Amino acid sequence: MLNKAITPSFIVKYLDQYVIGQEDAKKTVAVTVYSHFKKIAKSQLDGMPIAKSNMLLIGPSGTGKTLLCETLSLVLGVPFATAEATALAQSRYVNEEIEAVLQRLVDKAGGDVAKSQNGIVFIDEIDKLKSIDGQPRSVSGESVQHALLKIMEGAAVKLANGRYIDTTNILFICGGAFVGLDDIMSQSNAYRYISIQKGESQKMLHRLNTRVKPTDLFTFGLIPEFTGRLPVITRFQDLSKQMLVRIMIEPKNSIYEQFRQIFQNERVELTVEPKVFDQIADLAVEYKTGARSLRGIFEELITPILYVIPDSPDIEKVAIASLFTEPSFVRKERVK
Ligand SMILES: Nc1ncnc2c1ncn2[C@@H]1O[C@H](COP(=O)(O)OP(=O)(O)O)[C@@H](O)[C@H]1O
Ligand SMILES: [Mg+2]
Repeated sequence: MLNKAITPSFIVKYLDQYVIGQEDAKKTVAVTVYSHFKKIAKSQLDGMPIAKSNMLLIGPSGTGKTLLCETLSLVLGVPFATAEATALAQSRYVNEEIEAVLQRLVDKAGGDVAKSQNGIVFIDEIDKLKSIDGQPRSVSGESVQHALLKIMEGAAVKLANGRYIDTTNILFICGGAFVGLDDIMSQSNAYRYISIQKGESQKMLHRLNTRVKPTDLFTFGLIPEFTGRLPVITRFQDLSKQMLVRIMIEPKNSIYEQFRQIFQNERVELTVEPKVFDQIADLAVEYKTGARSLRGIFEELITPILYVIPDSPDIEKVAIASLFTEPSFVRKERVK
């Protein structure tokens, strides 16, 4: 069903064009979706049900979890829909909300139910469904886990128009920040007592040490049946200042590129000096929202310039050398 050219390394290379860093996550996700679609293809031949590998992406907010899933659906050419677990938990009728998510997936497939049945659903903020003893809200978090469990496993769900969508082959990816998980892990980790000999792989030990175990997720507050449906777990790292700089410049549709395009449409060349990206990244590190604050800061810098540009057709070039100095303008020679 997947194009033959789509191998795990092909997927990673594609993701690299949009998602900066997160190398481990990219590889794990690529291998998982690749084998997912292989399994579906095989199951269509031999009729055996597939053992699905739904995924859990753990990592701080604004580090690229949603972006990676979106980009993944593009490279695979399958429909993609997202949902927020918190919105599900706040709704009075969880099942109706879940139906709505699946309906969005069908819409993304242009109404083609068969196509949507091979799609990807991303459910964000899954960590907010944790159950906390004695809190009424936790009851709903747990019941949402139960409701999701059913569709992640595979079920026929009736849509509003009376048609059914079968979720058996839909890949579910859950995401969350899981604040506090590291403390839980540091208490449960057995491997740190293993010492390794010369020549043995330090890398493998590190792998084992940073592995999230299902029991860590129970301790965190997910129910065992739910974590059981998420056999593949991968982590997203905090973005360093250097990565934040790269995010503004490198991706195909980077913030810088987008604004250069907007200026170009006004026949103006925009140049932003490296120092400015450095300054913006410094601020973004302060804000602690990953890459999320980059666009806002950049827009604040650019908006006053975009305000004057349409009224000043003589401006040919704009150069910004620092966040804290006025931009310099190059104007056309006046024709006398
Ligand atoms: N690793 C990354 N590479 C490129 N852009 C990123 C990365 N992480 C975050 N961003 C940008 O930051 C914004 C928020 O990212 P998102 O994927 O929604 O974060 P998350 O889902 O992890 O909270 C998006 O606009 C995205 O373009
Ligand atoms: Mg997200």
